[in-house]
Amino acid sequence: MEHTEVVKPETLDELIKALHDIFESDCINVEEVQDVMESYESKPQEWMQYAKFDQYRYTRNLVDEGNGKFNLMILCWGEGHGSSIHDHTNSHCFMKLLQGQLKETLFDWPDTKSLGDMVQRSQRILQENKVAYINDSLGLHRVENVSHTECAVSLHLYSPPFQSCQTFDQRTGHRNSVKMTFWSKYGERTPFETISQENN
Ligand SMILES: [Fe+2]
Repeated sequence: MEHTEVVKPETLDELIKALHDIFESDCINVEEVQDVMESYESKPQEWMQYAKFDQYRYTRNLVDEGNGKFNLMILCWGEGHGSSIHDHTNSHCFMKLLQGQLKETLFDWPDTKSLGDMVQRSQRILQENKVAYINDSLGLHRVENVSHTECAVSLHLYSPPFQSCQTFDQRTGHRNSVKMTFWSKYGERTPFETISQENN
């Protein structure tokens, strides 16, 4: 395979262009994606148009459809907002902090034979500009903005794109399939999708 030099994207548009180039290939190097996403230094004026908050829960805002290879979206987390424990439908999941901090808690997949408390494996705070990666073979996670005073904004890349995933009840390990919706697409509020389900 031809080696392409990773150039540091100076703007969100340059980052999106770089991601298109990388995902043209069917063979994805996780570290390369992580590196290019991390090397972009978040500038709020470049992503503000996508950052739409809801008072009650975090929002998912579509930024780019990655030529069908990936979905790039911005998630906006108000104070205390968090996701359920969820899987990633056999896709790659990259998450970059654009503003603020998020707490990520990793869980083992629950034992399907015996229901009970889910095993919490680790916890970490993701700092601004850092990129986290997860897929189903690494486990499940919950993402939360635990701050009572600061909101958080994160940039997520999912490849291949998916529209539903499973959420898990921490007490029992019981799972539910949920359909994911967008609060906005390309900076425009999505019509008729006011009931947004848990996730991501
Ligand atoms: Fe996730």
